[in-house]
Amino acid sequence: MLFQRVKPLDQILATAEKKSLKRQLGPIQLTLMGVGAIIGTGIFVLTAEAGQKAGPGMMIAFIIAAVVCGLAALAYAELASMIPVAGSAYTYTYGVLGEGLAWIVGWALVLEYAIAAGTVAVGWSGYMNGFLLHTNFFGLVGEGALALPESLRSGPYAGGTFNLLAFLISIVITLLLIVGTSKSAKVNAVLVAIKIVALSAFILIAVPAASTPNFHPFLPNGWGSPLGGIGVLGAAASIFFAYVGFDAVSTAAEETKNPNRNIPIGLIGSLAVCTVFYLLVGYGAAGAIGIQPLFGPDGVAFHPGSPEMAAACKGSEALVCSKEPLAHVIRMLGHGSIGNWIGGAAVIALPSVILVMIYGQTRIFFTMSRDGLLPGGLSKLHPRFNTPHVLTLITGVAVSLFAAMFPVGLLADITNSGTLFAFMMVSIGVMVLRVREPQRPRPFRTPLVWIICPLAMIGCLMLFLNLGAITLKLFFGWAAIGLVVYFAYGRRKSHLANGTEAA
Ligand code: ALA
Repeated sequence: MLFQRVKPLDQILATAEKKSLKRQLGPIQLTLMGVGAIIGTGIFVLTAEAGQKAGPGMMIAFIIAAVVCGLAALAYAELASMIPVAGSAYTYTYGVLGEGLAWIVGWALVLEYAIAAGTVAVGWSGYMNGFLLHTNFFGLVGEGALALPESLRSGPYAGGTFNLLAFLISIVITLLLIVGTSKSAKVNAVLVAIKIVALSAFILIAVPAASTPNFHPFLPNGWGSPLGGIGVLGAAASIFFAYVGFDAVSTAAEETKNPNRNIPIGLIGSLAVCTVFYLLVGYGAAGAIGIQPLFGPDGVAFHPGSPEMAAACKGSEALVCSKEPLAHVIRMLGHGSIGNWIGGAAVIALPSVILVMIYGQTRIFFTMSRDGLLPGGLSKLHPRFNTPHVLTLITGVAVSLFAAMFPVGLLADITNSGTLFAFMMVSIGVMVLRVREPQRPRPFRTPLVWIICPLAMIGCLMLFLNLGAITLKLFFGWAAIGLVVYFAYGRRKSHLANGTEAA
């Protein structure tokens, strides 16, 4: 039943023409948008979590996650260039595997985009709170005078009461997006530059300080095993978050000039730039001050984010305990003010990731509502700003609320579950379409498709299974809710099923 109602690709392309967003983005803006979406909480914050899971072996985790993303990006680029309309994996699945699976993919993409936006907001608050604690604002106030009370620095499920700053930043970004994409993209470009400068400064200081003893033991938790959520594979499953976002480029396909050429450039270019930075940062962080996990009395490493870990971290200077690990490394190396500047750069720049994620989420909802699977009123464009303001507001408020409540590691792992699922579907979609419509023009062809796509699927599945049992339960629970919503609403209202068109 889930495989019925495949939407003909020509119809997808035609619908997009009728009710379309303005084409205004070029290749450089797209690559910047990709880098803006990719470099964020993953490298700036989750490095500590990866260290707790894998110790210095987290560097291998960065490589494993990059390889899986690279394989998935090659598959993505083929579909994104063939079907350059908003909606990414959701739209591709609709055109290849049918409405039911497309709905589940769209539903999973909520995890990828909306939950990711929340994750980054929480990561941002970690740096902002650290910044407020360490700064004296050029001597205008006492150091830490403007720091928030501890209970407002993290949510109720993360040892506090309400993560005030994570909440506020999400609201501000939402308002910015309602005012308009083009203005937001320009702001984004400046913020991307700030991130690159901050990571470069980190690399220049930390890499020369790396010393061999800090890499021993290299694999304190071993490789890990499925559902364990620990070891190198567990770290790879979590640090995968650091690469999430390159496909945000494809969600902008409908607003891109010459998408057939520019989307593949944006996808693969942004992934390549980020991978180089991550490997250098990972090496510097592990090598400069060491990154060994904290162990319980039973000799087993604590699970990151667990109450036991929080207790063990009280008063600890260990890198795996830091909520602002990159700034922490630099401070520990004796460069307090540069550490503060790196923290400041994260504070200024991480919001660009939240922006791209909320943007991507609204464009996916926009497409789903244009297909009739969500109420049509949601996709109304604002008369003056020409943005889907209703969707943006609903998404933004939801993001703000869960950013205010949950810990960063859990949100990141949930994001990864949805993303890995969507990537698996895309890889399957590429292969199905090669068989079903071999003649359709493919501006970008995945090289060695019968090797790359199966490997992408296996890689995604391997990371998915290493996310740990709690995350997988949440994922399947979310998917079950999605199916109920689909059968209660979308299946009946679908424009494809009813032969109706978007208004
Ligand atoms: N890759 C993005 C980040 O790390 C989502 O923040």
